[in-house]
Amino acid sequence: MKFNAPRGTNDILPPEIKKWQYIEDLTHKLFTNYNYQEIRTPIFEYTELFQRGIGEVTDIVEKEMYTFEDKSGRSITLRPEGTASVIRSFLENKIYGQAQPTKYYYIGPMFRYERPQSGRFRQFHQLGVEAIASDDPALDAEIISLGIRLMEELGLEDFELHLNSVGCKSCRPKYVKKLKSFLIENKEDLCDKCRERIERNPLRVLDCKNQSCQSVIKGAPKITEHLCPECDEHFSEVQSFLDILNIEYNINPLLVRGLDYYTNTAFEIKDNALGAQNTVFGGGRYNGLAEEIGNRDIPGIGFALGIERLLLSLDAKGIEVAEEAGIDLYITVIGKKAKREAFRLLDILRNEDFKTEIDYLDRSVGSQMKSADRMNAEYTIIIGEDELENNSATIRNMKSGNEEEIKLSNLLEVMKQLVDKEEI
Ligand code: HAM
Repeated sequence: MKFNAPRGTNDILPPEIKKWQYIEDLTHKLFTNYNYQEIRTPIFEYTELFQRGIGEVTDIVEKEMYTFEDKSGRSITLRPEGTASVIRSFLENKIYGQAQPTKYYYIGPMFRYERPQSGRFRQFHQLGVEAIASDDPALDAEIISLGIRLMEELGLEDFELHLNSVGCKSCRPKYVKKLKSFLIENKEDLCDKCRERIERNPLRVLDCKNQSCQSVIKGAPKITEHLCPECDEHFSEVQSFLDILNIEYNINPLLVRGLDYYTNTAFEIKDNALGAQNTVFGGGRYNGLAEEIGNRDIPGIGFALGIERLLLSLDAKGIEVAEEAGIDLYITVIGKKAKREAFRLLDILRNEDFKTEIDYLDRSVGSQMKSADRMNAEYTIIIGEDELENNSATIRNMKSGNEEEIKLSNLLEVMKQLVDKEEI
């Protein structure tokens, strides 16, 4: 019998995991600087949360959710995204009773039953931020700048920011009505899927990649020209705050996101080196979401970034984020007695934060030295019966080849002198 990981999932093996840790460490540091706090919500939620939050007529809810009944017959869904859960948690824990705004970030796996391809998986990982309970356009700019800053810190500079406003519950329905009649007029030139979408979710037509639909869409009414005065003002304010930060953006009135909760600002960062799945992160405002799932009128804005896509983006540009670090010392042993002493020394050195290793496969000295090389050991020391008897051994710098005779009982002190330890 042979088992494979389920389609669309990945094992993340060392040394790949180094890159993940690097990105996670950077996220904790950077997001904390912007005064966002980490939140962890469950991997699964009751299905209704996503149906109401993301919207019944979205690809995610209609086709992509991992939904099952638990043993008590409740419908459970593996989270396809983080925003609905974060707002559910904000409401459930009555965080609105505290000083606002609330600024959260999260890192973790999400699940969508999509057709796997480069940059698209069934279990993938997002790092996301949500700033809740403020409608300030400066916060929209802060959120966008935070995502861009993360990319820049990683050395990624060649990307495009697409920006749009999708209006609010007062101006959007009027726009959607106009768009609908336009699409009906041009029905003949739309693909089958888009014809279906006219009634169910006409905004999604704007997102269609089909050539013929694209030429129809070019002439479609633009949402940015149909915003109510409040939304229009909010949108220009967002732009002016982005200008203060010298962030370049393309206004893209065709940008509609795949989740229904968005209002006002919507944005995506695209890396054109990535092919079809080129959106590294996306987000926007969701001023109606708390109302939808908890009957409270609380605004919010956020984004989520796909870590796998970020890594592809780094690969495409040949950027190495985390170099494999070697170990400080490899203790080569000859014989059982020496193994016991080496095992004791290993513990002493590790307690003092030296990265140290020994052999666990009873190998020859030659093989042990090969292991030391593979582990990129800075130093090696050989301990056998003689060394034990004379309390003396030779420590070798693997790079320079220099050797030094030391007292075995002084190994820790010698290592302290040799290895430049960073103070923590
Ligand atoms: P989303 O656009 O559905 O938004 O996903 C955000 C990002 O997650 C995408 O830009 C992409 O990098 C990554 N992603 C999505 N699906 C997959 C997949 N199947 N495989 C690999 N990566 C994927 C949201 O999820 C919103 N919750 C973002 C947000 C937060 N809006 C406001 N706050």
